[in-house]
Amino acid sequence: MVAFPTETVYGLGGVATSDAAVARIYAAKRRPAHNPLIVHVADLAGARALARFDERAHSAAEAFWPGPLTLVLPQAPGAPLSRLATAGLDTVAVRIPAHPVARALLAAVFLPVAAPSANPSGSVSPTTARHVAADLGDAVDLVLDGGACPVGVESTVLDLSGPEARLLRPGGLERAALERVLGPLAQSSDPAAPRSPGQLASHYAPRLPLRLDAIEAEPDEALLAFGPDAPADGVLVRNLSPAGDPDEAARNLFAMLRELDVSGAARIAVMPIPAEGLGEAVRDRLRRAAAPRAGRSR
Ligand code: TXA
Ligand code: MG
Repeated sequence: MVAFPTETVYGLGGVATSDAAVARIYAAKRRPAHNPLIVHVADLAGARALARFDERAHSAAEAFWPGPLTLVLPQAPGAPLSRLATAGLDTVAVRIPAHPVARALLAAVFLPVAAPSANPSGSVSPTTARHVAADLGDAVDLVLDGGACPVGVESTVLDLSGPEARLLRPGGLERAALERVLGPLAQSSDPAAPRSPGQLASHYAPRLPLRLDAIEAEPDEALLAFGPDAPADGVLVRNLSPAGDPDEAARNLFAMLRELDVSGAARIAVMPIPAEGLGEAVRDRLRRAAAPRAGRSR
C-alpha cells in the first residue's frame, strides 16, 4: 500500500487485481465496503483491458486523459479486478492521471492501481504528503512526496455506463469542458439513492462546523475568505483566492480548511464562491463539509 500524488489529491494505492491489497486500503481508510474505488491505469490499453469503451467514452478519453477525469464504464468481460475494488458492481471507475509521479508509479507497477483519496473516510482529502502522514501515519507503508497537488480537488466522475452521460461528482475537470465534447450532462439528482455510492451528503468534513455564504466572521469564527474585498490573511483568516479565481480556490481549499480546523475557533465561516470553472467542485465540497453529520461526534 503506497500513497502517491496525483494532479487532484493524494491517493492510497494498492494493486487492483489483489483482494488482499484492496482490503488493506478499505481497512486503513475505514471505508465502507459498498463504496467502490477508482482504478488508475497508465494508458488507454490498460483502461480497455478493464472497461468497455463506446464512442462517447473514446471521445472523452481522447480529449481529457491523462487528466482529472474518472469514467464509470461497464466492466470488460474477464476484467482481472478484485471484486472488492468495484464493490461487486458490474461497472468500473477508471482514470489515467496526469501527475508525473503517478504516471511513473503506474508504469513501474504495470498493473491497475486502485486508489481512493488517502484520508480517513469522510474527512478532508490530502493535497500534500504531510497531510497523508498526519492522517494515516503508520497505516501506510510509504508516501511518495510529489509536493502540493496542482488541481486540489478530486477528479470529476462521469458515468457513461448508461444511455445518458451523467455527472456523478463535479471535480478537477470543469463541466463546461466536458459539455463541449459530450453535450449537456445529466445530473446525479436523487440524494437518497446516490448513483455514486461515495456521494453521501456529509463528506470532506473538518472537525469544526462550517457556516456557508458568510459575509464576515463572528468573533468566535475563523474565516475562509474569497476575493479581493476579504479581510487580510491572519491567524484566523485564509483567503482561497485574493484574485477571485475559483481554480486557485480549488488548489487551496483542503489545505486551508485543515489549517483553520486547528486555529482554535469554534466554527469556520466561508465566504461565497462563484460556480464558474472549478468553483462548482469547490462549492460541492463545502456543501458536503457543512452537511449534518450522522454518527459523528464533535
Ligand atoms: O481525484 C480522484 O479521483 C482521487 C485520486 C486519488 O485519483 N481519488 C478519489 O477516490 O477521489 P475516492 O475513492 O475518494 O472517490 C471515488 C468516487 C467515490 O465517490 C465512489 O463512490 C465513486 O468514485 N465510484 C467508484 N466506482 C464507481 C462505480 N463503479 N460507479 C459509480 N461510482 C463509483
Ligand atoms: Mg475520497
